[in-house]
Amino acid sequence: MPSPNEVESAVIARLSRARGDHSRRVAETASRLASLHGLDSSGAVLAGWLHDWCRELPRMELLQRAEGFGLVRQGQHAAISTLHGPLAARVLPDRWPDLPDHVLQAIDRHTTGAPGMTRFDCLIYVSDLIEPGRTFDGVEELRAVAERDLAQACLQGMEQGIADLMRRGKLIESRTIDARNDLLLRLRGEVL
Ligand SMILES: [Fe+2]
Ligand SMILES: [Fe+2]
Repeated sequence: MPSPNEVESAVIARLSRARGDHSRRVAETASRLASLHGLDSSGAVLAGWLHDWCRELPRMELLQRAEGFGLVRQGQHAAISTLHGPLAARVLPDRWPDLPDHVLQAIDRHTTGAPGMTRFDCLIYVSDLIEPGRTFDGVEELRAVAERDLAQACLQGMEQGIADLMRRGKLIESRTIDARNDLLLRLRGEVL
């Protein structure tokens, strides 16, 4: 695995000050929650630092590079920014070939979620939402749930995200709906 210091320096050099600070807080939040829940804390630090690696690419470049990897689905043009997770998971191995698969998968899934979210995927998804710089309504409750149950916090975060998109008249990606339904059924113990 790459060293955390090397990854931190690369992120700080690449992203704006504000996004670099956000990435640091996600890494710290994910590391702490990983220890609390018995997950891979070193991987959590790397995923936290790297999750927004492609977040500041110009819109057209993001779209073109994502198209090159076959990541753009029909009707997605209104939600181009969500491609920054899947694209980062494709390009990061060029720079760090030994990044573990679970770290790359969590980076891939941090924007929209996906069916079959693992606890590590949930850890990164939730840490991005609740890092100390976040101030939206309900964030305190989400932080409290994340201390007890990462999958439950992930489900709640996704549902709040979907509700927020609906309120604002935005499109919702089918992958997010699938992710939410899958997580809901698994948390209820129902077979899909
Ligand atoms: Fe992101
Ligand atoms: Fe983020």
